[in-house]
Amino acid sequence: MQALFTTFNPSVTEEVANSEAALTFPIHPMKIPLEDDYEDILQKALSGWQLDVETLHSRSGLSRAAVTNALDGCVEEVTARALAPLLQLDADALLAIGKRSWEPARERFTGLKQISTAFRNMRVNAWILHDANSGDAAIFDTGTDEKLLLDYLRGNKLTPRGLFLTHAHADHILALPALRRELPHLSVYAPSGEPVSSAIPLSAGHCIRAGTLTVEVRSTPGHSPDGLTYLVPLGDRNIAFVGDALFAGSMGGAANAWQEALTAVRRQILSLPGDTVLCPGHGPATTVKEERRHNPFHALHFKD
Ligand SMILES: [Fe+2]
Repeated sequence: MQALFTTFNPSVTEEVANSEAALTFPIHPMKIPLEDDYEDILQKALSGWQLDVETLHSRSGLSRAAVTNALDGCVEEVTARALAPLLQLDADALLAIGKRSWEPARERFTGLKQISTAFRNMRVNAWILHDANSGDAAIFDTGTDEKLLLDYLRGNKLTPRGLFLTHAHADHILALPALRRELPHLSVYAPSGEPVSSAIPLSAGHCIRAGTLTVEVRSTPGHSPDGLTYLVPLGDRNIAFVGDALFAGSMGGAANAWQEALTAVRRQILSLPGDTVLCPGHGPATTVKEERRHNPFHALHFKD
């Protein structure tokens, strides 16, 4: 994972703080980096395809040192182009991330709020989407600090109509008990295959009304056993909350269900209209169009 706070989050307003940091530093907009670096991508593909350094060395003709250096983050074009086909990665997309020459295009989307909170040595996203006409809001994952979500909801006079959990990993649901205490009537939804206490179980094909918002449920397992993606049409755009199934320029680890994860992302997320806004569990927002072209794990499948 990349170091914190290095690049710009292109498509949404950011609020990066947690209770601990806020005591020491002023809360201010910060740039949210891509979640994964060059070496993270190589390592995820290596483990996903159940390969090892020796196999890459023998199949690529590269020295063991060259392979190891790449896995440690040394970006060399010759090495990247030799390794990419063995790892089923798009070499151009991989190199663009290695050279930091790509990030998702900048755009703004009214009604969408990204709230990034600290979890161990990384950050995790919660998202709030609201309908400006009705003030109805839906929350997607909790992150680790309920206060930021509550402040945003109250500060903007929004009515929370549902909390949708993409999966049950600890960083995505840590603030759930506190949110429940503050919003005792809020409906909480979770994947049926990843039960969360008192949450309403959801499966692919369900469609939930959250006030004036409509939330369609899609199945994107792999990173977690029953991970869900939530698709919400708003105005003339679609917004998809994808959890850790996909990151801008990468995807969540799925060493035990690699092919399942790849297939689910392509069928359930990257098949959506190109201007669909994608809101991942970590890192910046992106779009389907950006990921079809620039995600090293998927770009090969969308080339003309
Ligand atoms: Fe996760």
